[in-house]
Amino acid sequence: MAELAAVSIGTVSNVLNNPSIVASATRDRVLAAIESTGFVRSTAAHQLRGGRNRSIGVVILDVSNPFFTEMVRGAEHALRDDGFVLVLCSTDESVTRERHYLGLLEEHRVEGILVTPAERDLTHVSALASRGIPTVLLDRAAPGRSLCSVTVDDVRGGELAAAHLLADGRERVAFVNGPPSIRQCADRRRGARRAARRLGLDPDRAIVEISVPALTDEHGELAARRVLERAGGVDAVMCANDLLALGMLRGLDGLGVSVPDAMAVVGYDDVAFAAMLSPALTSVRQPKFELGVAGAELLLEESRDPRHVHREVRFEPELVVRASSTAAKVPKIRRSR
Ligand code: RIB
Repeated sequence: MAELAAVSIGTVSNVLNNPSIVASATRDRVLAAIESTGFVRSTAAHQLRGGRNRSIGVVILDVSNPFFTEMVRGAEHALRDDGFVLVLCSTDESVTRERHYLGLLEEHRVEGILVTPAERDLTHVSALASRGIPTVLLDRAAPGRSLCSVTVDDVRGGELAAAHLLADGRERVAFVNGPPSIRQCADRRRGARRAARRLGLDPDRAIVEISVPALTDEHGELAARRVLERAGGVDAVMCANDLLALGMLRGLDGLGVSVPDAMAVVGYDDVAFAAMLSPALTSVRQPKFELGVAGAELLLEESRDPRHVHREVRFEPELVVRASSTAAKVPKIRRSR
């Protein structure tokens, strides 16, 4: 290869690993020689010689959830110009699987990790960073700025969803939520209860909590019957994410419940399909792509600057009102006392 391009082996190495220091004419000659010989370098061999493997681990809760795939798309957009490849791991909200994947990524010596943790305890994630692997939390805050993180104010998001329903005259809101071990679920619950209190309502009565084991459309559909069976009646449903809301709409339809007239429905994330549903889904929009870009940029900054100081990049949620929650409500006939 070097002979073919009439350069030294060191110049070929520079073209592959540090092209900006090679004159463009020389670089073009080496690249032409590489193409003509069909040479493909071995990252493993390069790594054994102390080189970098240009890979970034991305650990998310559910690869079938468009919230995460859009966030990963943002990270990929921010990293590809630097020659990085992403190694994507989906934990299905399993702590065991998360720890397994983090161990594999460390063995593969990835140059950094972006992770949405499946549990509150961040000990094993922080340990990675302490062993020299830059690690950034996606959609989760780090206690005491121990790591960089990109987050959305989920307490505010939960408040926006519940206030929209309660202020619209709905009297009891079922909140279909995931396990409190997922911080986003706990924060959205806090926000929903804060909305009830700020409207002068008893949160224990205004917010009827229905817990599901995972934030999937299947669990949303199964929860529909549980919503209808709650004593005292419920006239609105707030779901912890849009997959749950998708399943809820399917379940209510199957039970002959009209949305929004008999039951308003609100989701969370505002993923692409939310606007395409019938009725179109009201949701709390999270800046998914921007979250991924910001997380990747923090990771690049940390890997390049030894004086880097960990910080949180925080975004605000936004309520997007659509047909699933805006019936022209028929005033309830209030029984005379
Ligand atoms: O990370 C937990 C949830 O937060 C995910 O299901 C995703 O939808 C986000 O909203």
